[in-house]
Amino acid sequence: MYIIQIGLIASFLIGNSLQTNRIRSHPNYTYSVNEELLSFKFATSEAHVKLLRFKINPTIYDIDVFRNDGDTLGEQIETPFLSLDNQYLDEQQLDNDCVGLPKHPKLNEILSVNLLDNTLDIYYTDILSLPQVEKIFLLTDELELRQAILKYNQTQQPQWKVEVKNTSFSLKTQYQQQINYTNAYFACFNNNQDQCLILSNYGGIWLDKNSEIEQPILTAEPVVKESKDLNKVSVFEQYLALANGNAGADLYRYQDNKLQYLLRISSKDLNQTSINIISLKLTKNRLSILDEHTGLYIFDIIDSQVSLLLSLPYQRCVAFDHSDNTYLLVAETPNNIEYMMEIFILPLTKEYYINRIYVDDFSFRDIQIDDDYAIIIGEDVHLVIRHSIFNGFMKNNTDLVKTFFEDELIRFEYLELNQTIQTQYVETSYYIGLSKGSLHIWRFNDFNPVVICRFQYGTTQNYTIRANSSKCENHTNQDLFEQCQITQQIVIQASGPLLESDSNYLIIGVCVSAAIIILVILGLLCRKGRALAKKIQELKKQAEELKKYGALEAEQQSMGH
Ligand SMILES: *[C@@H]1O[C@H](CO)[C@@H](O)[C@H](O)[C@H]1NC(C)=O
Ligand SMILES: *[C@@H]1O[C@H](CO)[C@@H](O)[C@H](O)[C@H]1NC(C)=O
Ligand SMILES: *[C@@H]1O[C@H](CO)[C@@H](O)[C@H](O)[C@H]1NC(C)=O
Ligand SMILES: *[C@@H]1O[C@H](CO)[C@@H](O)[C@H](O)[C@H]1NC(C)=O
Ligand SMILES: *[C@@H]1O[C@H](CO)[C@@H](O)[C@H](O)[C@H]1NC(C)=O
Ligand SMILES: *[C@@H]1O[C@H](CO)[C@@H](O)[C@H](O)[C@H]1NC(C)=O
Ligand SMILES: *[C@@H]1O[C@H](CO)[C@@H](O)[C@H](O)[C@H]1NC(C)=O
Ligand SMILES: *[C@@H]1O[C@H](CO)[C@@H](O)[C@H](O)[C@H]1NC(C)=O
Ligand SMILES: *[C@@H]1O[C@H](CO)[C@@H](O)[C@H](O)[C@H]1NC(C)=O
Ligand SMILES: *[C@@H]1O[C@H](CO)[C@@H](O)[C@H](O)[C@H]1NC(C)=O
Repeated sequence: MYIIQIGLIASFLIGNSLQTNRIRSHPNYTYSVNEELLSFKFATSEAHVKLLRFKINPTIYDIDVFRNDGDTLGEQIETPFLSLDNQYLDEQQLDNDCVGLPKHPKLNEILSVNLLDNTLDIYYTDILSLPQVEKIFLLTDELELRQAILKYNQTQQPQWKVEVKNTSFSLKTQYQQQINYTNAYFACFNNNQDQCLILSNYGGIWLDKNSEIEQPILTAEPVVKESKDLNKVSVFEQYLALANGNAGADLYRYQDNKLQYLLRISSKDLNQTSINIISLKLTKNRLSILDEHTGLYIFDIIDSQVSLLLSLPYQRCVAFDHSDNTYLLVAETPNNIEYMMEIFILPLTKEYYINRIYVDDFSFRDIQIDDDYAIIIGEDVHLVIRHSIFNGFMKNNTDLVKTFFEDELIRFEYLELNQTIQTQYVETSYYIGLSKGSLHIWRFNDFNPVVICRFQYGTTQNYTIRANSSKCENHTNQDLFEQCQITQQIVIQASGPLLESDSNYLIIGVCVSAAIIILVILGLLCRKGRALAKKIQELKKQAEELKKYGALEAEQQSMGH
């Protein structure tokens, strides 16, 4: 069955490959960095070493640890597979040995609160979390506003409490006309600390964040026009963009306490007779808009005006998101098979490169991307993937993590706390999610790359560590086609005089900046792989699954040549 899918998608992409802006291969560079030798001596009966020198270069996606055999590379130590919800590695039995772990994510649900009483069939459309004022606002497709109280106790074991208030406020009272079902979204500007906009097909209303649901303070915003299909909202700094379906995309600016309408990108501007703008995203100086029928259009924003940078023609588009120049775009074949492309944009040459393609059994609905990970929202299965790594550098299309939520996820957003909780080897952040009938809070642990060792007294062993990183130290050019390969020798002597404290745990963070950097340009096509964050027991199953990505990727590659 996958063969059929792959065939279809392949023929699809061949159709699209006539586009001149699409490049089919791109030179790739590996810069080699040799680190100074590190030497550790212990006299305790047992020593744990956590080598965190990679903390300064947290983008390491692959680590190989070799036991040295005299002067030569010895046996490679297998990296354990890490699952999203498994205990951290201390539980793993390490016997006089070291193990290397690349950067990897872990996601745990820590709270789930029911929103509905069973008799009601309410469809929630958006969530606004305001931990600073201990509030969550919710919107329904019938323009009902609801509120929950969000309490966060930052103790050693952070505690969360969410209480949904037993009243709601109907925004219908704010409008003269009859209100049909509508999409409704929140939009907040940095330069307005007190209010957020509530946007729907019927226009905009400002909500005072400090007011309570029993008596919300609301002000009409006359500048936002009525729309037939408000599909998506995106805010960046003072700009606001609305995806208004057939009408196009509208751009606004909030300045001097006033919302100002700037422009509309309509079908004419896209040289099409009819369009349906289903999604968009604003970032610094860039507006990307997705037309369901003709693909993605990327505009530069210059002096409140837009100018086309690049268009990516794909039919039957579903969703997209991007982080800088890495785009994820979901589209479907005429047979309704959805596929997701990871695309690198090269703004300077106005070209784009399709890096990877995913096909899975679930229907994609939305994508949320940050610098390292993308969260793919499906009907009932959701994926956390690692992105931004050039295909040529990946051993396999792994780094896929599946999670299952009980009911349909609608929104998944980063919960902005006063600070993220950061320890030496893990950064913890929180996400809040809204699904059909409940609110969820997830803890997202992003583990920094680390080498962990455990030794009994009387052991000496030398190791070579090789790590690949998607960013290079001292190499500011953030090219998506470059990586660093870091090599380091370490000597561990669990017999010598005690140098460190005699605690069983030694967490050693070593600075990297004195490194000698030798630039070597390699051109290697390498496709071995390592799955991240999956239970060992599920490995076999996963390997099966991954075959289809691999095969698809191969198809894609061969088409490219
Ligand atoms: C790093 O990248 C190089 C070049 O693509 C590859 O040969 C190597 O296997 C990768 N992994 C490690 C851990 O070095
Ligand atoms: C480990 O490396 C050190 C320093 O390079 C060297 O003196 C020692 O002989 C090596 N030991 C083994 C077992 O290879
Ligand atoms: C955030 O910081 C402010 C002031 O420092 C404090 O009043 C507030 O309670 C903090 N909020 C959270 C969620 O920690
Ligand atoms: C936070 O939790 C700690 C430990 O459970 C408790 O002692 C403290 O009173 C809590 N603080 C608040 C403000 O609830
Ligand atoms: C919520 O309000 C309704 C009607 O106002 C009432 O019947 C119900 O008992 C309330 N529920 C709770 C948990 O207070
Ligand atoms: C609401 O529904 C009525 C009747 O179906 C329709 O005439 C009207 O155009 C709709 N209004 C909007 C804003 O969609
Ligand atoms: C529409 O056509 C004009 C003239 O050929 C061209 O300059 C412009 O870039 C096109 N716009 C898009 C979105 O393709
Ligand atoms: C990497 O670059 C080399 C030389 O330009 C090329 O032969 C190789 O195919 C490239 N690898 C990939 C994955 O594009
Ligand atoms: C790397 O950057 C650091 C800090 O900017 C500098 O001290 C060091 O000399 C640089 N190394 C190389 C090889 O350029
Ligand atoms: C992925 O890795 C596995 C195990 O190393 C290998 O058997 C498989 O052929 C790889 N797939 C691709 C597409 O390279």
